[in-house]
Order: sequence, then C-alpha cells, then structure tokens
Amino acid sequence: MSSINVLPLLVLVLLLRSLQSHQIFTMAEPEDLIEKTCKTTLYYELCVASLRSNSSSAKADTKGLAEIMIGIGAANANETYTYLSSQLLLLLKGKKDSSTSATAMTRNKVLRLCAERYFFASQALREAVQDVELMSQDYAYVQVSAAKDYPNVCHNAFKRVPGLPYPAELARREENLVQICDVATGIMDLIAWDQK
Ligand SMILES: *[C@@H]1O[C@H](CO)[C@@H](O)[C@H](O)[C@H]1NC(C)=O
Ligand SMILES: *[C@@H]1O[C@H](CO)[C@@H](O)[C@H](O)[C@H]1NC(C)=O
Repeated sequence: MSSINVLPLLVLVLLLRSLQSHQIFTMAEPEDLIEKTCKTTLYYELCVASLRSNSSSAKADTKGLAEIMIGIGAANANETYTYLSSQLLLLLKGKKDSSTSATAMTRNKVLRLCAERYFFASQALREAVQDVELMSQDYAYVQVSAAKDYPNVCHNAFKRVPGLPYPAELARREENLVQICDVATGIMDLIAWDQK
C-alpha cells in the first residue's frame, strides 16, 4: 500500500527537477551560445570579447551573433578608414617642400588608396549584415570575403613602392580586420541557411 503512494510523489519530484533543470538551462543559454559558437571559430578570445562588447549578443541566436560580429567588422574597417583619412589630412597640411617631394606624393597616393579600400571593406560588411538578415548565403560570404581581402590590396600597394615601409599600425589593423572576418565566416558556417 505504501509503495502505491510513493509513486505519484516520485513522479512529481522528477517533474519538478526536470522543470528546474530546464529553467537553469534556458537562463544559462545566452552565455553558452557565445562560447559554444566561438569555439568553432579560428580566434576564440577575439570572438568572445567582441561579441560580449555588444549587449545584444546575450539574447541573439547564431544568425544574430553572425550579424553582430560582421557589424563589429564594419565599425572596425570604418575606424581604420577614418584613421587613414586623418593621416592624409596631416600630410596635406604638412610642409610644402615635403608634400611636393616624390616620396610624399607617392605616400599620399598609397594612403588614399588604402583609405578607399578600408571604406570599401566597411561597405561590404554593412551589406553582408543585410545579406545575413535576408538569409542570402552566397552574397553574405562574397561580401565578407571581399572585406577580408581589401586590407591586402592596401598592403600590396605599399610593397610595390621601394623604400615605403608598411606602417606597423596598419599591419596591426590589417591583422585585426582579417581575424574579425575569419571569425564572422566561422559563425556564418553555423547558420542553418536552408531554414529560410
Ligand atoms: C550591437 O549589435 C546590433 C545588432 O547587430 C547593432 O544594431 C548595434 O548597433 C550594435 N551595438 C553597438 C554598440 O555597436
Ligand atoms: C565612420 O566613423 C566615423 C568617425 O568615427 C563616424 O563619424 C561615421 O558615422 C562612421 N560611419 C559609419 C557609416 O559608420
């Protein structure tokens, strides 16, 4: 008789425990998704730090995380574009004799090309955010891949001019943007693109 009474109680306890663990699971999910997602990318630390810098990440799904990461890339490229534009302005405001010298003119030309390429990169990434939002898989990959390549065009422009060293600051910025694009691609690889 007592064994018959224990059964409903046991069921109730199990039910409560399963509800409880489910609740804990849902509450921890946003943090877990960022870490789980970033583990599949090439640069885990960069991925986690970047995503956590935007509060929207906590509630985002995989698609949302991809959009946030690409958006971070767009802001990063735009920031380098702004930096290069200010370098150009400094050059233009420089002394007349140095700005008319052959090296200064070449440096000016290369910097202008670089500024333009980083601007293109930020545009491409902005479009990629829209492509992900619309689930346009092919376009999204093409834009992120283009954005990843633009800094290299700038790097090559420096290489083509003998005696014009590639600034360490630009090398750092190039590496940063390339890594952001790699992380964004890694997150995009996890999107269920066919569930339109
Ligand atoms: C965070 O990400 C969202 C979604 O991509 C974006 O709209 C927003 O501008 C981002 N916030 C910041 C501070 O960059
Ligand atoms: C690019 O950066 C500049 C300077 O920080 C800012 O004023 C501008 O709004 C940014 N442009 C875009 C499209 O985000």
